[in-house]
Amino acid sequence: MWMEAPVVAVLSLKGGVGKTTVTLGLASAAMHEGRRVLVVDLDPQSNATAALSLPQDPVYSSSDVLYDGRSGVAREAISTSGWGPEVDVIPAETALEHRAVPSGADPVRRLQRALRGVTNGYDLVLVDCPPSLGELTRNALFAATQAVVVTEPSYFAVQGAEQAIDAVQVARREGNRRLTVVAVVPNRARAVLSEHRFRLEELRGAFGVKVTEPIPERTAIQQAQGAGVPIHAWKSSGARSAARSFDDLLGRVADVSAREIAEELAREGR
Ligand SMILES: Nc1ncnc2c1ncn2[C@@H]1O[C@H](COP(=O)(O)OP(=O)(O)OP(=O)(O)O)[C@@H](O)[C@H]1O
Ligand SMILES: [Mg+2]
Repeated sequence: MWMEAPVVAVLSLKGGVGKTTVTLGLASAAMHEGRRVLVVDLDPQSNATAALSLPQDPVYSSSDVLYDGRSGVAREAISTSGWGPEVDVIPAETALEHRAVPSGADPVRRLQRALRGVTNGYDLVLVDCPPSLGELTRNALFAATQAVVVTEPSYFAVQGAEQAIDAVQVARREGNRRLTVVAVVPNRARAVLSEHRFRLEELRGAFGVKVTEPIPERTAIQQAQGAGVPIHAWKSSGARSAARSFDDLLGRVADVSAREIAEELAREGR
């Protein structure tokens, strides 16, 4: 059990690169290890919510949470997922779009405040961001301890990841000092394509060790998402390969949080 649940924001500048896939993959990997996970869906498209197969229509959503903004109010919006008792979700709804710029004091700290005291009940909290670096993603970055930047091995990958990392730096400068980019994840990589290999090298040149092993392109990922089940429960060789990639990525998230906590305790002289 990790001492304090890492809150991981999964973000990218571009749409469709695999934020939701990485969120779901990490949730599946953590569940497979018997850990308790909370997925916060901050995307009005609600793809993560759909893939988590909620057994009942939720009463409250992340939109309500941001609108309300009271300390700890996120607890009231937690639904159980259809994956199993290990995975809970704060679902998204289309209305999020219209509430994309929450009004009131400190609009980017509403999620952080709403999650106060709520994350303690989990080993891992994952925030699936919408495809922009706007107010919703900024709320995720103020609530998060770690950022995972998803990208694809394409011509614009380095630039897109740089902009996502810049957004992380802004959140750090504006007060969330704990936030670190733990991984730049190239998704949908095809090992046979020399273009992809070239782009991966380019990413490694720009971001060094933060760049993880790429998540391969696998039809099983889409099949499991369509069926609303975790990738670790999908039976095919492609699913097993994808699941291993997410296990490795989870290892990186856990490793960094363990190291950070040890450093924090050392600083406090404990
Ligand atoms: N490694 C992969 N192999 C096969 N299909 C994938 C892979 N990664 C993502 N996909 C598919 O690509 C589509 C887009 O992925 P996903 O929804 O995860 O991206 P996203 O960044 O969350 O998109 P959005 O910006 O719209 O929220 C989905 O249909 C997903 O199933
Ligand atoms: Mg998504």
